[in-house]
Amino acid sequence: MRNYDLVLPSHPSRALTAGVWHRGSAIVLGTFGVAHLLNQLCVLSGHHETVASALRLVYRTPLTEPLLLAAVVVQVLSGVQLYRRGRPSSSRQRWQRNTGLYLAFFLVAHPAAALVQRHVLGGATDAKWAASVVVWPLALWFVPYYTAGITSFTVHLGLATTRKPAAGFLVLGLMVSLLVVGALAGLWGRL
Ligand code: HEM
Repeated sequence: MRNYDLVLPSHPSRALTAGVWHRGSAIVLGTFGVAHLLNQLCVLSGHHETVASALRLVYRTPLTEPLLLAAVVVQVLSGVQLYRRGRPSSSRQRWQRNTGLYLAFFLVAHPAAALVQRHVLGGATDAKWAASVVVWPLALWFVPYYTAGITSFTVHLGLATTRKPAAGFLVLGLMVSLLVVGALAGLWGRL
């Protein structure tokens, strides 16, 4: 099922254009996102920074970082356009749209926080930085924020690339969230 299948027939060409931009940017962002989440899982084994340093050689160069951030902007803008024009007719489409809507928020807030931390505050963006907000009382916001980010990404990508129902991706997303957010909160030992 393609996102632009959800769009009203009154604007088929604009919907198609948004769908093409959305799918194109999703290739860049989806590839990064999967590698990035696997990197977050390395918090469990204590190898987060080693893997992050290797990945940064790919995504944090003068060519690739602007490309990644441009993919974020294109993904969010085209996604909002698809959301506004679409009318869901099945529960699968509702999952696709609602996880996409949350990702539109998360994909603005989360990379912006990393960029402010690096370029304005001059600090590191390592696992300790990500974990610094999973403490009382900030955890009241950041546990659901990270959990919904990981789960929305997993469900949204899963539905876009397979014909499987949302439930399996939802369980997978929640399990990854429990491991990553639990590790950031120090539930499985010190970082
Ligand atoms: C709990 C889950 C997550 C944690 C702990 C986390 C942590 C981080 C960290 C530490 C950075 C800085 C990276 C660096 O310094 O190289 C970062 C950046 C970023 N994250 Fe996440 N992330 C999470 C989920 C996600 C998800 C689901 C996405 C969706 C694709 C995402 C997209 C990004 C993007 C686009 C950046 C900016 C990359 C850059 O320009 O440096 N993150 N995240």
